[in-house]
Amino acid sequence: MAKNKKNDKMDRLVSLCKRRGYIFQSSEIYGGLNSCWDYGPLGAELKRNIKTSWWEAMTARRDDIEGLDAAILMHPAVWKTSGHIDEFTDPLVDCKTCQARFRAEDLAENKNPEQCPACGNKTLTEARQFNLMFKTFMGPVADDSAAVYLRPETAQGIYVNFLNVKNASRQKIPFGIAQIGKAFRNEITPGNFIFRTREFEQMEMQYFIHPSEDEKWFEYWKEQRWNWYMELGINKDKLRWHEHGPDDLAHYAKAAYDIEYEFPFGWKELEGVHNRTDFDLSRHQEATGKDMGYIDERFKEKFMPYIIETSAGCDRTLLTVLVDAYVEDDSRGDKSTVLKLSPKVAPIKAAVFPLVKKDGMPEIAEKLYHDLKKRFKVFYDAGGSVGRRYARMDEAGTPFCITIDGQTKDDDTVTIRDRDSMEQTRHKLAEVADFLAEKVG
Ligand code: GAP
Repeated sequence: MAKNKKNDKMDRLVSLCKRRGYIFQSSEIYGGLNSCWDYGPLGAELKRNIKTSWWEAMTARRDDIEGLDAAILMHPAVWKTSGHIDEFTDPLVDCKTCQARFRAEDLAENKNPEQCPACGNKTLTEARQFNLMFKTFMGPVADDSAAVYLRPETAQGIYVNFLNVKNASRQKIPFGIAQIGKAFRNEITPGNFIFRTREFEQMEMQYFIHPSEDEKWFEYWKEQRWNWYMELGINKDKLRWHEHGPDDLAHYAKAAYDIEYEFPFGWKELEGVHNRTDFDLSRHQEATGKDMGYIDERFKEKFMPYIIETSAGCDRTLLTVLVDAYVEDDSRGDKSTVLKLSPKVAPIKAAVFPLVKKDGMPEIAEKLYHDLKKRFKVFYDAGGSVGRRYARMDEAGTPFCITIDGQTKDDDTVTIRDRDSMEQTRHKLAEVADFLAEKVG
């Protein structure tokens, strides 16, 4: 029963996302494409705000991290070297009766693991390894000599550019390279809305360090990444760390911790912080013959840098932000829904309303709207009762509504309504922009 209620909440969030223009199913008018989603007007803004917040925290505000935007298609040998061609697999089980496919790991969690969850028959095959990379062909000939892969992670684009970035930026270790970009994985069982998809965006940072300082930097980056979720306004009681034990540690990692969030469908990984040792640079050096070693004046030696990686999913962060902000508040009226998004990431920062469409109110409201638009994403709405307009903005996650009323003409003041407390306070028209700047950060 409790489980259904939680799933209902996800269903209601999915329908709010469609109704308000956050997220639509891809190719919907053709019946949709499984696990692919399109970000609508508000979703695109929210995603951009999340990426900007990450970019500011991970490079723009720092002297020791450089940005990068590498190509999605890379030399196929990169994926041989990284181990993805041979090891980036999930065990897959088929049902001989209904042809459904499952991840062996998911079946193992079922009460009856030999039974097909789709048709109920005990006709499941043995598990076989299924490679998660999307393969395509470069140029006009579709044979194996032209095979290339859509990158399954953005990290490799950083490793192969380590020397380029180091030489061009003249950075000294410790320093990092940050990148945001699309990644593709042919997941066997995508699902839970945008949680696990086949096309998604990653926000990754690789920090190059002296091997003797790996534990210090690992702890440092764990703390920094936790703090970023606090900056986004995520409820800290819904976040926790999960340490990878020897059985689930990736082949390249010495230590790995995930930040997990408690979604309506359970505790799930949001981001990984990994100590990748010198695995990646050593492998690329071995495969290419390029010297990836670093000469350090401080340590008076040449060494292969270790890497501390922070790897977050942009779409997963966006889902977390939405789930965490979603509140059903009956005290506001029947079935009222509010998205209590932090003003920092909210797609629309404020709505401007004339109380009524007469007595000079629309003219003042329009002027304020056009002034604010130069600095903030704002929305003008003159349609329907002011209560209906508040309700629409609450559901869209807009933190402030500014109303021009009968008093405005007399004393140049407006009301600003706070989405969460619903309190209205009066402010000078001339001070509205500063008010918003302070709140939006
Ligand atoms: N470079 C390391 C790496 O890619 P990962 O744990 O495989 O590590 C990092 O992925 C993050 O990317 C995950 O924590 C998650 O947020 C996101 N991610 C991975 N697979 C995803 C998928 N199929 N759909 C959406 N996000 C995904």
